[in-house]
Amino acid sequence: MQHPRRGLAAFLVSALCAPAAWSAGTAQDAKLAEHGRYLVQVSGCNDCHTPGYLQNDGKAPAAQWLTGSAVGFQGPWGTSYPSNLRLLADRLSEAQWLARVRQPMRPPMPWFNLKAMSERDLLAIYRYLRAAGPAGAPAPAAAAPGVQVATPYFDFTPKNLPSQVSSAGKP
Ligand code: HEC
Repeated sequence: MQHPRRGLAAFLVSALCAPAAWSAGTAQDAKLAEHGRYLVQVSGCNDCHTPGYLQNDGKAPAAQWLTGSAVGFQGPWGTSYPSNLRLLADRLSEAQWLARVRQPMRPPMPWFNLKAMSERDLLAIYRYLRAAGPAGAPAPAAAAPGVQVATPYFDFTPKNLPSQVSSAGKP
């Protein structure tokens, strides 16, 4: 059984410290989300996951950041579409997010770069996405190699590459 005095002391400590801990926590959360915003801007996520970002020299409004793209990337892996990360983060817990972002993905998603990110940076991106909130529509589902698609797409088929390099590009 817990000692009554220790129980009371623990209660008083938590009751007195709770408001301070709470406000420090939210300030820290805001800082982490801000770091996430910085990371997605400088590490290229918007280039693919934000509609029109590349075409407009990075001038897409932040409200549209990471809402995914219906312009596919076609290559030996079929056709892939940059996912709507705002919707994805909205339905995943922090733990599910960390598990998802460390899995292999279809090209040209640089998933190995995400896998190399620190847990703090991955969480910062998650917090940014959650703070921005869900927006936009889901991206089209990926199509298998050889399947024709009706959406616009970039042709990422490697050309004139030495054979060992082009086969390394396959998923
Ligand atoms: C060169 C284009 C490109 C860049 C740059 C890029 N992505 Fe992606 N991303 C994609 C594509 C295409 C997919 C879909 C992959 C698939 O179908 O397996 C994807 C998928 C993902 C997924 C999986 C989503 C799901 O629905 O499960 C996550 C998470 C993700 N990207 C996060 C990021 C983050 C964070 C960054 C920046 C660090 C980033 N991506 C940069 C193209 C890109």
